[in-house]
Amino acid sequence: MHSFAYKNGALHCEGVNLQDIAAAVGTPTFVYSKKTILDDLEEFRQALAPLDAHIAYAVKACSNKAILHLMAQRGVGFDIVSGGELWRIVNAGGDPTLCTYAGVAKTEAEIRYALELGIYCFNCESENELREINRIAGEMGVKAPVAVRVNPNVDAHTHKYITTGTNENKFGVDISRIEALYATIAAEMPHLHIKGLQMHIGSQLTDKQPFVTAIEKVAPIVAKFKELYGIEFWSIGGGIGIVYDGCLASGSEEWWAEHPEQITIRSYAESIIPLLRPLGLKILIEPGRRLVGNAAAMLTTCVYEKKGEAKTFKMIDAGMNDIIRPALYEGYHEIWPVQQHSGDSIVADIVGPICESGDFQAQNRLVADVKPGEVLAEMSAGAYGFSMASTYNSRPLAAEVLVDGDKWHLIRRRQTMEQIVEGELLPGEA
Ligand code: LLP
Repeated sequence: MHSFAYKNGALHCEGVNLQDIAAAVGTPTFVYSKKTILDDLEEFRQALAPLDAHIAYAVKACSNKAILHLMAQRGVGFDIVSGGELWRIVNAGGDPTLCTYAGVAKTEAEIRYALELGIYCFNCESENELREINRIAGEMGVKAPVAVRVNPNVDAHTHKYITTGTNENKFGVDISRIEALYATIAAEMPHLHIKGLQMHIGSQLTDKQPFVTAIEKVAPIVAKFKELYGIEFWSIGGGIGIVYDGCLASGSEEWWAEHPEQITIRSYAESIIPLLRPLGLKILIEPGRRLVGNAAAMLTTCVYEKKGEAKTFKMIDAGMNDIIRPALYEGYHEIWPVQQHSGDSIVADIVGPICESGDFQAQNRLVADVKPGEVLAEMSAGAYGFSMASTYNSRPLAAEVLVDGDKWHLIRRRQTMEQIVEGELLPGEA
């Protein structure tokens, strides 16, 4: 449960009035709640206690150093997808030996870097990648720990761009071919150590059934691999959905009592534990969104209002470069005024400054009739918010703030124009 709520007519994160952060840091600014992240980590720990379960936080969801540091301090491992993310883990004080490295196109330089740092395991996506890691490990005189990502061909019923577990996707190795591939590794790739098996069927799953179906489908293979190759872990991936529509209200116990259908860490755990426990293996779980998604809001200021023939637009100072989810995945994020309004709602589009029609954060939405100068909070912004931001239209990356009780800390300075153009050269200047 998150820690954003109105208190005395002003939206707060934990004990801090968001208006104060906007005044001090400006907008757009992402504001994270430390308490929310730590509470959810603890809930994972407790819910998965019957298993030998370990969290590998999916760094791509939010990779700010302070957030990674917070998790590293709690002994969390990390699921990474690039040499850059591995660099971030080390830089944030994380332990590379707790990192699993996924991704379909790891380069030689990335593989060498990961082997030098002694990561826990490569999660591989193709036979050619395995052969390349085998070659590099041989050259380096080491054995590379590997698992293969199996594609169980289970539809996650989520947005098509974030479905990954069907054979229409580029990810993983078809379940029909996985046993032959493991036999090939064992027979032909002497510099690899078969350490586990991995899967991940998609992101923002709001239903437990696809997780259960995929686990039921793959568990017999895992048991066989334990026998044959002595694998030590099964990573079941991430994907647990969060609350987008209803986010602010979901900060209260009552909301959860009224929404028993909503997937929770506990209900997810309860549905999978009976299937996993008999395997007697280490289970890795790779949540990204569920650990940080509802833990942040992005503050933005209303700049203008325009009433057209067909629509009313509220222009804000944040664009699709700051949060691309509505444009890319038809993502829905609640938008609330930081100073509470009473009864003056209006149907409007909330749009950004970018020169693209896709640059909206909300369309045909019943929202408070905010006026220019007012600060708004876009909810559920912690996952794939800042981490997917760009400088499109030469817009500096937003600031980030971490709230801790009634204190807050700047955890990323707003980018400057000098930083954006740093590295650009006129011909001959290099
Ligand atoms: N493990 C693997 C192998 C993944 O590919 C992903 C996410 C995760 C774990 C973490 O999934 P999560 O628990 O966060 O659902 N940008 C999209 C989401 C892309 C997810 C990519 N893979 C969005 O904003 O909805």
